[in-house]
Amino acid sequence: MMRNFILKNGKILEVTGPKGSDAEDVLTYLKIVGGESDNITFGNEGVPFTIEEEKAFLERFSENTLYPMFVGRINGEIVSLANMSGIDRPRLRHNSEIGLTVIKKYWNQGVGKAMMQMMIEHAKSSKVIENIYLKVRNNNESAIHLYESFGFKTVGKYPRQMKIRNEYYDTLLMALLL
Ligand SMILES: CC(C)(COP(=O)(O)OP(=O)(O)OC[C@H]1O[C@@H](n2cnc3c(N)ncnc32)[C@H](O)[C@@H]1OP(=O)(O)O)[C@@H](O)C(=O)NCCC(=O)NCCS
Repeated sequence: MMRNFILKNGKILEVTGPKGSDAEDVLTYLKIVGGESDNITFGNEGVPFTIEEEKAFLERFSENTLYPMFVGRINGEIVSLANMSGIDRPRLRHNSEIGLTVIKKYWNQGVGKAMMQMMIEHAKSSKVIENIYLKVRNNNESAIHLYESFGFKTVGKYPRQMKIRNEYYDTLLMALLL
């Protein structure tokens, strides 16, 4: 599965599924995006996985998985990751929680929009996923703007869910019911 999008700056975003050989680049990418905002669940320390562990994690995403991950690249460089998680049990499998990051130098070029389009199209074509949920820090204006443009609605709030440098921040629960 591979798809190209032309961005606002004319560059081409190539979106594919992940490969095990992306592990080191993905770990480096996560440290970069973690350090670029206080809007995600980790900072510039990234995620606590070794390259081998990350490789095993990425290899679990097969072409036909119900809950995929998408990797966005510009000229071969990873600029965005989008993941859909879920619990594949009869009573829960119609729900997916998503996560989205874009590297700062490419913000506001339509990368987030393209990745969101991939996730929503996947949900629709799966004929299984009906509800897409996400959590977003309540002052993350560009993210909220992007999600609302796809029809997401705020359905709840987690008070004080994030604690960053001893300050608490609320997160919003947003939902898109397809
Ligand atoms: C949030 C994020 C994913 C958006 O990605 P992106 O590639 O910049 O998204 P897009 O360019 O497709 O869309 C951004 C939109 O926000 C708008 N925007 C930018 N700053 C804004 C602001 N302060 N207030 C409102 N809207 C704003 C842009 O104009 C654009 O809207 P448009 O397409 O209608 O012009 C990206 O900024 C990011 O990764 N941030 C850090 C991590 C993060 O916050 N992830 C989301 C966690 S829930």
